[in-house]
Amino acid sequence: MTVSDQPTSTSRKEHSQKAGKASSVKSAPLVKVPSVGGKLKNLNDIAALILYKRCKNIIIIAGAGISTASGIPDFRTPGTGLYDNLQQYNIPCPEAIFDIDYFTYNPKPFFSLVKELYPGNYQPNYIHYFVKMLHEKGLLLKMYTQNIDGLERKAGIPSEKLVEAHGTFSTASCHSCCKPFPAKIAQEAIMNDKIPRCKACSGIVKPDIVFFGEDLPKRFYRFSKDFVNADLVFIMGTSLEIEPFASIVDSARSYVPRLLLNRDLVGPFKRKPMRNTDVAELGDLIENIKRLVGILGWEEKMDELIRAHTHPVRIFNK
Ligand code: OAD
Ligand code: ZN
Repeated sequence: MTVSDQPTSTSRKEHSQKAGKASSVKSAPLVKVPSVGGKLKNLNDIAALILYKRCKNIIIIAGAGISTASGIPDFRTPGTGLYDNLQQYNIPCPEAIFDIDYFTYNPKPFFSLVKELYPGNYQPNYIHYFVKMLHEKGLLLKMYTQNIDGLERKAGIPSEKLVEAHGTFSTASCHSCCKPFPAKIAQEAIMNDKIPRCKACSGIVKPDIVFFGEDLPKRFYRFSKDFVNADLVFIMGTSLEIEPFASIVDSARSYVPRLLLNRDLVGPFKRKPMRNTDVAELGDLIENIKRLVGILGWEEKMDELIRAHTHPVRIFNK
């Protein structure tokens, strides 16, 4: 079977069924490999780079938009975003809820909000599992996420592949003396409307999520070492408004293809014209990821992966 000249968004599974030969699927992707240095146009071109193994080291850059399908609001979408829905906390501006100076002055609004944000209430969605799939296929170099919902870990993305740039609820420490504090005990206190206190100095304990005015985890600052090895970058569900995270999108080599999956154009994708190697697929993330999975012919594997995570086989002793 020869490679089709016509890029197609029809799934490879469907084509193979028409051709009547399941085995031909693996060897004959139905998307055309883009020419080196040529303009990348759409998801077909990105899929071809993966299918033809031109790209094997993918970096994911993610924000709150990957978790809205799990029921967690993002920050800046007008109306539904968190920053439009904080009136009850009576704070001077929405960002104050995550501002370290404001927290020092009045930690109560943060602790009230955080009760709802604690991981455990939400489940990963198709996008988190897609990243896990990239890992299982040996294609995931690293995932850089700004999210603190813990859904990447919950989907099974291993911690060595994950950079939680804005911190995590899985650890906690004293805001005054920085001493680590058991995260579970901090969570229990917060859930019972109490403010957790440090045993050493009685300072306020906070989960190790990064506030405005705080430094990012050390692990984040090794990003240039990762990006030098990246051959494809996906940017998903982020407004790229917050530094220093936002600037990492420009850390890959200038010829490395970048795919933006978002509702609107953000960061360098607003430039006109865009780089030849930049592709923006605007619209709903789940729909676009499902489309990409279809072009890649990974639907069945994705279903299996999700099933295995959501309905793990239990082994009982007789
Ligand atoms: P934002 O709320 O700023 O941006 C989320 C982006 O995802 C927006 O561009 C949305 O249009 C898009 N989006 C949401 N749902 C989507 C969907 N279903 N399909 C496609 N696109 C969708 O969130 P972040 O960029 O993550 O930091 O915000 C960055 C940082 O700002 C956060 O980590 C947090 C916040 O202040 C701190 O608190 C330190
Ligand atoms: Zn302390």
